[in-house]
Amino acid sequence: MTIPNDHPYSKRAAALLEQLRTAGEFKVLQTIEGPMGPTVQLRRSDGSLKEVLCFCSNNYLGLANHPDVVEAGIKGLQQYGGGTASVRFICGTFTPHLQLEKRIADMLDVEAAYTFVSCWNATEALFPTLATPQDIIVSDELNHACIIDSMRLASGIQKGIGKLIYRNNDMEDAAAKLAEASSRVGEDGVIWVITDGVFSMEGSIAHLKELRALCDAHNALLVVDDSHGTGVMGKTGRGTHEHYGMAGTDVDLFTGTLGKALGGAAGGYIAGPRFAVETIVQRARPTLFSNALPVSTACSADKAIEILMNEPHRVKALHDNVEYARSAIRAAGFEVLESPTAICPIIVGETAKAISMSKRLLEMGVYVIGFGYPVVPEGEARLRVQISAAHTREHLDELVSALKQL
Ligand SMILES: Cc1ncc(COP(=O)(O)O)c(C=O)c1O
Repeated sequence: MTIPNDHPYSKRAAALLEQLRTAGEFKVLQTIEGPMGPTVQLRRSDGSLKEVLCFCSNNYLGLANHPDVVEAGIKGLQQYGGGTASVRFICGTFTPHLQLEKRIADMLDVEAAYTFVSCWNATEALFPTLATPQDIIVSDELNHACIIDSMRLASGIQKGIGKLIYRNNDMEDAAAKLAEASSRVGEDGVIWVITDGVFSMEGSIAHLKELRALCDAHNALLVVDDSHGTGVMGKTGRGTHEHYGMAGTDVDLFTGTLGKALGGAAGGYIAGPRFAVETIVQRARPTLFSNALPVSTACSADKAIEILMNEPHRVKALHDNVEYARSAIRAAGFEVLESPTAICPIIVGETAKAISMSKRLLEMGVYVIGFGYPVVPEGEARLRVQISAAHTREHLDELVSALKQL
């Protein structure tokens, strides 16, 4: 039995899909044949393959298809099998989980780390587990959706948790919101300040030093989701804090992903003081009620971080590419933000325009995604160009030449 066409849900879904198609906002999922790399093979609707330059993946260090990362995953699969068949606390904790978690903690120079199947899950575990109704969360307005949902979930489960949102990267507003939080919070309450390290749609970076100082002034805790910063920012790719010359312990808690620079497969983590990580292990619903990170994925991610730590030239190559691409895109007449991150958004306005520009680029063999509402605010749709250490200068030149043709 299928849901009948005249069911209220069928009518609602049909109306939404029709609206998206009419507005030119309907997302078509491209299919890739073969591994992720600086170029990928796209499977066209007629079944044929087309090789395109990939400027929309989070494969910042080119590790997604690194032979050692692939081999570590294969060995993990052979040694530990296909699945954990369990959540972590029952029988789903395997040696590679512990090895990876130590590797993450060492990379960030903090006491402990704990993995999840995604950073979405890790971040969603955060506030519903750690915050109580005495607490106030102070958050950047452009924080990633998983942070927003973590706050929503926390305040839905535990009524009374306060939320204050400051304007993106506006430290005056952040200071005002922290002062307000300080005046409202009780003796046992905690003020949490949370920010993306790198804002994923802007490619800008959070002012971590200023946020640290504000947190110190108000006895608040600083939480950073550095999903787009880890492996990218700082001389050795440890993240946005390293970019500012800060220690890992200058951030009270990290969340991050293994699905971008660190091998690109999947997985996320929370890292910080051991007692905080232990409360997550004991109490966080996304780990108590959901399976562990697949062991083969843990093995691949562990190898990716080992490569990152041993081969800092990859980070340098990424930084050089970022600098080259940004100035070439700017020289071609496009406005891109001055920033050291690997994300270069080109703002075009309407969602339909961004989607049609990305379609034209794809016809020219350049794969760049147009992002529109609801991923970014209405009227601020953009092409988001993402640079990788794996791109050659020729790839970057081809990108710019295609952009010029637009
Ligand atoms: C800042 C930020 N946090 C979390 C995530 C989610 O990461 P994952 O794919 O591991 O769930 C993303 C990915 O888009 C992100 O940009």
